[in-house]
Amino acid sequence: MDRNDLIHILSTTDKAELKRIRREAEETLLRFCGNKVYLRGLIEFSNICENDCLYCGIRKGNSRVGRYFLAQERIVEAAFWCGKQGYGSVVLQSGERSDEKFITYVEKTVAEIKAQSRTRTLPDGLGITLSIGEQSEETYYRLFAAGAHRYLLRIETTNDELYKRLHPPGMRLSDRIQALEHLKQAGFQVGTGVMIGLPGQTVEHLADDLLFLKQRDVDMIGMGPYIVHHDTPMAAWDDANERTPQERFGLGLRMIAATRLLLKDVNIAAATALQAIDPEGREKALSWGANVIMPQITPTEVRREYQLYDGKPCLDESADICKNCLTIRIEGTGREIGYDSWGDSKHAINKRPQ
Ligand code: 5AD
Repeated sequence: MDRNDLIHILSTTDKAELKRIRREAEETLLRFCGNKVYLRGLIEFSNICENDCLYCGIRKGNSRVGRYFLAQERIVEAAFWCGKQGYGSVVLQSGERSDEKFITYVEKTVAEIKAQSRTRTLPDGLGITLSIGEQSEETYYRLFAAGAHRYLLRIETTNDELYKRLHPPGMRLSDRIQALEHLKQAGFQVGTGVMIGLPGQTVEHLADDLLFLKQRDVDMIGMGPYIVHHDTPMAAWDDANERTPQERFGLGLRMIAATRLLLKDVNIAAATALQAIDPEGREKALSWGANVIMPQITPTEVRREYQLYDGKPCLDESADICKNCLTIRIEGTGREIGYDSWGDSKHAINKRPQ
């Protein structure tokens, strides 16, 4: 798989070929990772953010968002609920903050979940993934020491010019790359990914993004279509809608297949943003090579305030309803749910010293 092959997968319009690409991606997934789909309960514990990314609905500059911060008991309770359902791991996600109070809070919450969630089936407690943005190297060491073992930090795009256009002046692509390196050094299994169908983004850019993922030897991938949020500066760009949502969705599925064919044994999440465009988006992603789903566990009374893009699905459904709905959806694709396990990627497992 070289750059040209990737560009071809991302741009072919031949129906028979797209069918073949999908089938090969699915076969590669089954061969390298097996039939299981892993669930991570997603707890969006705060939408307070110091950053001002031009695409994001919870950017600091959006004064129409009601800001919230969940109490530790609520986060721990949501995590335990996941444990009871057999989800095996949780993702704690929030807006970006780097003050000491925030970091200590996350550390304590992680330690509390770890200490309280040990069971016979999960002797080391729930797996904890963090997704709280760019932090210092020292902070990453602290968070790992507290008991989190995976971290998601999207690179968003590896094209320097596009990265600059999407972010405020202080943010640099090189810092983001550095942060990914620090995460790895601190001991985390690292997940990253990009937004797909950004204004000005070409299939060549996306192919380069995929080669970056390979070069960085990452363990997990989370990527999904860019979706306009009406209260962001990007919504006013002339080219914000240069691709239709359907086009971005199609490109999203091809990106998943291309990633699976290129990287083989990593975990790939079926992004919720896919479902914001197509009601069966996540199931389709599973059949194009994804193997992780992140059900919504954020308490419904704050969920509405965590909208990164317009049309976020499942705003009112309780975690219970989400669980039933997802079980039916996943089993409908012929796959099996990997209960009571952290579900680390085969890539991370294969890298461990024997
Ligand atoms: N559309 C799609 N994805 C978005 N994200 C933020 N805003 C949007 C948007 N408007 C993604 C970014 C970020 C992740 C948490 O959510 O990739 O890293």
